[in-house]
Amino acid sequence: MSVDVVILAAGQGSRMKSNLPKVLHKVGGRSMLQHVIDTASRLDQVNTHVVIGHGAEQVRESLAGQAMNFALQAEQKGTGHAVAQAMPEVADNSVVLVLYGDVPLTRAETMQQMVDIAAQGDLALLTVNLKDPTGYGRIVRDERDQVVAIVEHKDATPEQHKIAEVNTGILAVNSQYLQQWLPQLSSENAQGEYYLTDIIAMAATQGLRISAIQPEAEEEVQGVNNRVQLAELERWYQRQQAELLMLNGATLADPARIDVRGNVKIGHDIQIDINVVLEGHVELADNVVIEPNCYLKNCSIGAGTRIRANTVIEEASIAESCDIGPFARLRPGTQLADKAKVGNFVETKKAIVGEGSKINHLSYVGDAVLGKAVNVGAGTITCNYDGVNKSLTEIGDNAFIGSNTALVAPVQVGKMATIGAGSTISKNVADDALAVTRAKQAEIKNWPRPQKKEKGN
Ligand code: UD1
Ligand code: CA
Repeated sequence: MSVDVVILAAGQGSRMKSNLPKVLHKVGGRSMLQHVIDTASRLDQVNTHVVIGHGAEQVRESLAGQAMNFALQAEQKGTGHAVAQAMPEVADNSVVLVLYGDVPLTRAETMQQMVDIAAQGDLALLTVNLKDPTGYGRIVRDERDQVVAIVEHKDATPEQHKIAEVNTGILAVNSQYLQQWLPQLSSENAQGEYYLTDIIAMAATQGLRISAIQPEAEEEVQGVNNRVQLAELERWYQRQQAELLMLNGATLADPARIDVRGNVKIGHDIQIDINVVLEGHVELADNVVIEPNCYLKNCSIGAGTRIRANTVIEEASIAESCDIGPFARLRPGTQLADKAKVGNFVETKKAIVGEGSKINHLSYVGDAVLGKAVNVGAGTITCNYDGVNKSLTEIGDNAFIGSNTALVAPVQVGKMATIGAGSTISKNVADDALAVTRAKQAEIKNWPRPQKKEKGN
């Protein structure tokens, strides 16, 4: 049976105090709405419908290129009215699963359970018991403990206010029932809204079985209304990510001090120290060590590589047994072969560095291709930019670049070539040659150094 997921995302979210529509605020680097969409997409045969209203264009743009329907709810007249906006695109005999763009962390397993119940012809309702149920719709059960209605807080009697079981809003039921019930909703209630929750009483009257299930964790159904709640869910999400890493073979110095904002694929025996942020798609092979305060974005790190403290790596691919940092910055297009070393205060960009080559201190290597076992001395700079064009520096295997060399690209340094320290190299250097452009050292014997005149007198 196909599933039509209807995600409500039309509300304003005024308590966020933001120009950004609420559902576009991020948890773990991804918008809350995208979390819901991604999780729901793991169900079989899914069509996704997003009900948009406030900030509709921004929300639509944020999902550009993804296959889904949008239903515009120009005026927010309630959750029942919101679902009704999506119904014209919903299939005739499918399971409709109603989700919320500001409830980002519902698990796929919970969604699947609800879909399975609805596929059998019952109505699946996700509920939780809260110590303080204030504000929520209460689950009303009859003397046989069957769910018979949901009553909103503002419409409830004092007796009903004592009910601890509340509606999370998430439900699933066959579309044919919704087609029948939604047009019958009335807005004659305390808030003057078309409540989706009123379909529960209709279902009960019609003799449908209403099956209330509970999520594994309360956070799964927690909505975000302000940035305090957003931060709470972020921490919970990060704890889950940290646990996944640990269960898959990473030792974390402190699971509360790592942040994952994307997907991380890891091998075994990884060690990650504190204050590490992993963003986008990051792959860490066996025995990678990451020291404190590192930021890694969209990169792959080969087995046995050590990333020392305070290193930033972005859009780079690092092979095995490399040694990077501390305080290194590897920018997009950096590729290190096995056993390469990039030391402190070194910046690389579009740099292909061969096996065993070393750039140990205080250098900028950009738009460069280095062979194997090249030694780049401290303070070496590739002058890759003339103000208009970017040019390439090529350095052959086993070349030795003396300290404080300026390599004015485009330029090639041959294999086994040596550059004397302090040189400015603007012409190609042949294999095995020595190139030096340094001025000759001059010496004046017994030079009378200027003296300060005595003050006073
Ligand atoms: C709703 C439920 C309540 C439940 C609670 C859980 C109804 C009538 N009540 O109450 O039983 O305990 O959620 O949080 O369903 N939305 C739209 N269009 C609208 C109205 C709402 O897209 O016209 C979206 C909102 O952006 C929000 C969600 O639906 O994401 C819930 O709406 P809200 O008005 O906050 O419902 P509650 O009063 O919290
Ligand atoms: Ca709400």
